[in-house]
Amino acid sequence: MTPPTLDLAAILNIANQLKRKGIAEIDGAADRDALDVIRTTYFGRKNGLLTELMKSLPSLPSDARPEAGAAINAVKTGLETHLAERVSSLTPVSASPAIDATMPARQQWRGSKHPVTLVIEEIEAIFRELGFTIALGPEAEHEWYNFGALNFPPDHPAMDLHDTLYLGEGAVLRTHTSPVQVRTLQRWPPPVRVIIPGNVYRRDFFDPSHAPMFSQVEGLAVDEGISFVDLKATLTRFAERFFGSTKTRFRPSYFPFTEPSAEFDLQCWVCRGASVGDPEHPCRTCRSEGWVEWGGCGMVNPRVLVACGIDPDRYTGFAFGMGIERTLMARHDAEDMRDMIEGDVRFTLPFGTEV
Ligand code: PHE
Repeated sequence: MTPPTLDLAAILNIANQLKRKGIAEIDGAADRDALDVIRTTYFGRKNGLLTELMKSLPSLPSDARPEAGAAINAVKTGLETHLAERVSSLTPVSASPAIDATMPARQQWRGSKHPVTLVIEEIEAIFRELGFTIALGPEAEHEWYNFGALNFPPDHPAMDLHDTLYLGEGAVLRTHTSPVQVRTLQRWPPPVRVIIPGNVYRRDFFDPSHAPMFSQVEGLAVDEGISFVDLKATLTRFAERFFGSTKTRFRPSYFPFTEPSAEFDLQCWVCRGASVGDPEHPCRTCRSEGWVEWGGCGMVNPRVLVACGIDPDRYTGFAFGMGIERTLMARHDAEDMRDMIEGDVRFTLPFGTEV
């Protein structure tokens, strides 16, 4: 192609037109291939529109050449920049180095409620049917609620530094859920029927049957005319529902905040006592004792009622407490309490229940 002979005004005019046309074409390009075509059309070494326009410069008078050359170059760099921007905006995500959209996705883990939470919810549901509501209290508790109001004598071993985690200034990490009995009775006049789930803390070793933090569910009923019969009937009914166990046993015991007090055991729901004295058929669940220890209970000590401002001549009540990890271990034949805390999915998975 013979370079056209043009004057300065014509060159400036063409450069301007190429600029407008070029921008419009770049903007209208559908994909990278279209942009490649535009690149060749404008900048191609052979026959590129701007290349050709450059070739017409020698026909200009020498004093007009710099202006014409500068104008053509400005259009060229402007279009090149615009084109490069369009190319990168059309570049597929998969080609950018940071993200590879073609990589297979990682397997999604489904969350589920922790077995301890599931057991607490199950216990709550059973007691709700019996007319109980749920009460909660703080884990960092005042010594008075944890011990004093519950009638602990000042030298009681539970208050020993070896058993309790003291926070200073009269605060402790609660050693049981019983302080919430006091908080509930201070706040709500009888009749009261609550169950109290929560974490408790003791200076215990972390071994198969102990942990420095574990969960309890406490029960409290205070009303006129409540007797030990109500306590036994309530716990026996609960045991039937939760364990399918038909027999409970109450052994005399001592807690400062209940009088009389008892430990309650469940007849072993696996061997039903048949393994006792039968060494050929040992039972893992009850260690061939026929009974599984389960919790503490008793009639609310009148001194506790007085500490809460309740008339002990008018009202009586019962209370009980059970450790949840132990309840779970007993029912599911788990041997090591640490499994409940470590969160290993091999232990928690069989409990399932996706959230
Ligand atoms: N709080 C007692 C414990 O942690 C259990 C208990 C609760 C006993 C309620 C009697 C009544 O061992």
